[in-house]
Amino acid sequence: MSVEFNEEENLEDEIFEVDEELLRQVLPKRFRKEKTIEDREIENWVFDRPTLIALAKLINKGYLSELVSTISMGKEANVFRGKDSAGFPVAVKIYKKDTTLFKDMMPYLDGDPRFKRIKRKRSHIIYTWCQKEFKNLQEFYEIGVPVPKPFAYRDNVLVMEFIGIDDIPAPRLKDIVLEDPREMLNSIIEDIRKLYENGFVHADMSEYNILVKDESEYYIIDVGQGVPLAHPMAYRWVVRDVVNIVNYFNRRYKLCLDPKKYVLEVIGEEILADYLML
Ligand SMILES: Nc1ncnc2c1ncn2[C@@H]1O[C@H](COP(=O)(O)OP(=O)(O)O)[C@@H](O)[C@H]1O
Ligand SMILES: [Mg+2]
Repeated sequence: MSVEFNEEENLEDEIFEVDEELLRQVLPKRFRKEKTIEDREIENWVFDRPTLIALAKLINKGYLSELVSTISMGKEANVFRGKDSAGFPVAVKIYKKDTTLFKDMMPYLDGDPRFKRIKRKRSHIIYTWCQKEFKNLQEFYEIGVPVPKPFAYRDNVLVMEFIGIDDIPAPRLKDIVLEDPREMLNSIIEDIRKLYENGFVHADMSEYNILVKDESEYYIIDVGQGVPLAHPMAYRWVVRDVVNIVNYFNRRYKLCLDPKKYVLEVIGEEILADYLML
């Protein structure tokens, strides 16, 4: 499946008839029994009418045929395991409109030269955020760091590669015990360095946002906060990413590694000196 990115198409406000029956089939089983869309809205559930329309558009293009089960219900988004039209597993992240976190999103949108003139309307901020996560996945994927391959997005719905073994989603770094933690730490630091070298910062690196298939295969996820180096906070955030990761490995595996040494590895001495003078 190819990566789709068409800004015009995504933002256009086309009139779209929702095929209720089709959508009922797409929803995970336990949500199918609710009779009307209004039932779901009353419960303030993630499947409001605009979200159903976004899902319907993704179904029409073959990116999605079914949401099979819930992987995660977070404050900001719910993530589902689904299938595309060929039956291949996909991960579907649906951002919630009622999130109280949209204020926290602004520092990562303002200052990112890719997103100018962001309307202060809540739904617009959420849609822009979803688009930002998609664009970051594309950038990171092309740079060659391990992230789920992005397939498509519509409004607040993002479809990407499912990271798991068979139907089981891969566990997070925090949920497993590694045999050789140093090797994975070095590899993650190398990924942060690669991103940095190519002009990007993840800005939310933690043991929660790395999925581990096995010791030699992990994926960095949740890339919505990522910014280009042109963002005024980018240098602070790359340092924060490195320190977070090194501190986690120190805590969990009783290591005594110096985070500063790793920061130097990523951004080099000159920039670090500048940073410390800020
Ligand atoms: N591509 C994916 N494949 C499998 N599971 C995923 C994928 N993306 C996210 N998940 C699961 O969903 C959880 C939440 O996703 P994440 O992007 O971190 O959202 P948030 O932290 O904003 O709720 C992850 O911890 C992971 O368990
Ligand atoms: Mg997360």
